[in-house]
Amino acid sequence: MENSILVCGGAGYIGAHMCKQLARAGWVPVTLDNLSTGHREAVRWGPLIEADLLDRDALAGAFERHRFAAVLHFAARSLVGESVREPGLYLRNNVTGTLNLLDAMQEAGVSRLVFSSTAAVYGEPRYVPIDERHPSQPINPYGLSKWMAERQIAEYSRAHGLRAVCLRYFNAAGADRDAEIGEAHDPETHLIPNLIRAALDPSVGPVRLFGTDYDTPDGSCVRDYIHVEDLCRAHLAALEFLREAAGFHVFNLGTGTGHSVLEVLESCRARCGGAPDSRIEPRRTGDPAVLVAQADLAAEHLGWRPELGLDAILDSALRWHRARASAAQG
Ligand SMILES: NC(=O)c1ccc[n+]([C@@H]2O[C@H](COP(=O)([O-])OP(=O)(O)OC[C@H]3O[C@@H](n4cnc5c(N)ncnc54)[C@H](O)[C@@H]3O)[C@@H](O)[C@H]2O)c1
Repeated sequence: MENSILVCGGAGYIGAHMCKQLARAGWVPVTLDNLSTGHREAVRWGPLIEADLLDRDALAGAFERHRFAAVLHFAARSLVGESVREPGLYLRNNVTGTLNLLDAMQEAGVSRLVFSSTAAVYGEPRYVPIDERHPSQPINPYGLSKWMAERQIAEYSRAHGLRAVCLRYFNAAGADRDAEIGEAHDPETHLIPNLIRAALDPSVGPVRLFGTDYDTPDGSCVRDYIHVEDLCRAHLAALEFLREAAGFHVFNLGTGTGHSVLEVLESCRARCGGAPDSRIEPRRTGDPAVLVAQADLAAEHLGWRPELGLDAILDSALRWHRARASAAQG
């Protein structure tokens, strides 16, 4: 079907939200996922092909069975600490996996790709807000793997006419407005889900907050949190953009507004009716003080602007965590 879109990593956090938005927009999202960190039950808006991007035959089979109008590529390992311990795992999965996907697309004649990249490709910021001209000098294997994947995509675009958009996300957060899906990583390394879980269930134990001696207004790290629904809208806009635009394009996705760890903690406390148990720990190596996006290019080329701020992020995440907890209790 020409209205099918291949969603690699569609069983994961952002991919599952994307499938829901694609279905709402009239597309059939076909998820390809090895379920290494994703969830079978999150694949609700189209079929699941349980396969690994490292399996070239399985990939070719997926492209033979379906005629995809485009590919959205979310599939990756994305834990920075794990990538430092296991660089090979990250380079194989994220770089070779992307290369296999590019080959399968070329073989099948599918020419539109939207790739999930990350602010981690920039490394230690030399200035903030960070725009797309900022040098890319990743400081961990995860960021490096995404940077290498981007470069591969750029070369396939140059050599084979692939139309591609790489979207460099800052911190994705929040949940589906209907509380059907949300963020459920294991282990969870992201601040917002960890704070909410700790606030709702004291047996979870304290959330570790790393560093309160940064050169920021309250001493804690400042990050740019972008609502997962805003992120997904940007992918729909990128798909539209690629109908007309040839070549390779890179856009930041963020709100341009930073929130400190302590500010997020305080907002969580106000909403959850109690303070999440937390513990201040020393800084982690490689955690920049401030990461905030300049996303004017996405506004200019995709006509996209974020609509939801920290309040909407926390409200939606809290609703989903509550719905999940009450479903678990039966
Ligand atoms: N969550 C964030 O804040 C954030 C920020 C920047 C970039 N990103 C990028 O966005 C993408 C999605 O992130 P997420 O938070 O939804 O992650 P996630 O772990 O929830 O989802 C990734 C999905 O990809 C699948 N997958 C991984 N390797 C695969 C392989 N070799 N073959 C098939 N499936 C595979 C996993 O099973 C999972 O379902 C990732 O590429 C990540 O690097 C995320």
